[in-house]
Amino acid sequence: MTMYSIQGPCHWVGDKSETAPVSSVTEAMARINKLYEAGTPFFTKQSIREVSKQLQRSSLCKDKITVKGVDGVGVEFDVLTGEIRKGFDSGAFEHEIRDPYIVYCARVHMTQNLLRWHGNLPEATCSLRIAHWMSRRKKDTKEPAYNYALRESQVVRKSFRASRESWEASQMCKDLESILESVPKTLNIERVLGFSCGSMSIDRNSSRSEFQHALILTVRDWLRDRNGSGRVPSYVQDPVYTSIDKSTLKESNVMVLDDPQALLEIDDSSVVFSCSSNIPIKEIVADIARPAVLIWEHVGEEDEETSDEYGVYVCLVPCHPNADI
Ligand SMILES: C[S@@+](CC[C@H](N)C(=O)[O-])C[C@H]1O[C@@H](n2cnc3c(N)ncnc32)[C@H](O)[C@@H]1O
Repeated sequence: MTMYSIQGPCHWVGDKSETAPVSSVTEAMARINKLYEAGTPFFTKQSIREVSKQLQRSSLCKDKITVKGVDGVGVEFDVLTGEIRKGFDSGAFEHEIRDPYIVYCARVHMTQNLLRWHGNLPEATCSLRIAHWMSRRKKDTKEPAYNYALRESQVVRKSFRASRESWEASQMCKDLESILESVPKTLNIERVLGFSCGSMSIDRNSSRSEFQHALILTVRDWLRDRNGSGRVPSYVQDPVYTSIDKSTLKESNVMVLDDPQALLEIDDSSVVFSCSSNIPIKEIVADIARPAVLIWEHVGEEDEETSDEYGVYVCLVPCHPNADI
């Protein structure tokens, strides 16, 4: 699925922050690297929460969303919601600019942007930036023009059930269960959080999504047995979810949270699962929490051979809440 997005202009806020805005790409690179090497967290729950609160207010065209760079310098992003842009594909379509959302930039993205594109200096030191989703529609009738096919809800439910059965019969699921059994009983673990598992109702890569959600149910069931509790809070976050995904997941007692609410839920009693996310989930989690268990894919060419058809290489890191990740 292609989700179009667009970013509006941004400007330094004329506040009295102690640090002056950067004046060149070289200065921005040096500042980002220095802060990173000094151990400054680039993501904090407080900074994410502050931006989230602004996003929850009704965001109208000409509003501003203010974020602080990792150097403490304030930056305002223009809200463009409601504006119309010409389609990229042909004259028959146009794009309506929708809600703003958070773009998460780890150090590597910040510096790559600067090196490759020379970046936009006001946002150079921002690890949280604002962009907007856009929806494609026909220019003449204004009807939505999706460039992907949606599966019927009954088809999604049936297919998810089949994928779950197939996942549960797999060696990988058995391996995961036996690794989970080795997690020390002394760790207090209460909830499961899944990120970026994709859509089961969009007819492309839906089986990867089904298997990843089935994995979350396996972890949830393990936790329920381990804790002897009836209900294990289980949350997932992915902006791509459709209403069919949401209702299918709700039937399995998995609740969809809007970005960034699931991130804000992560704590040391969480199991966090993510595979092939579009956001720098590892960097975010490393900065904001010390989850009890992490399950996520290896990244890097050397890991390609060990990936399997489910799209997940099980890499489980039970860690003590106070341990360094
Ligand atoms: C490359 S796809 C991987 C999907 C699936 N995990 C897989 O392995 O096929 C990246 C996913 O990250 C999701 N994503 C983008 N922004 C996100 C956000 N803010 N929070 C959670 N997921 C996000 C996308 O919607 C997409 O489903």
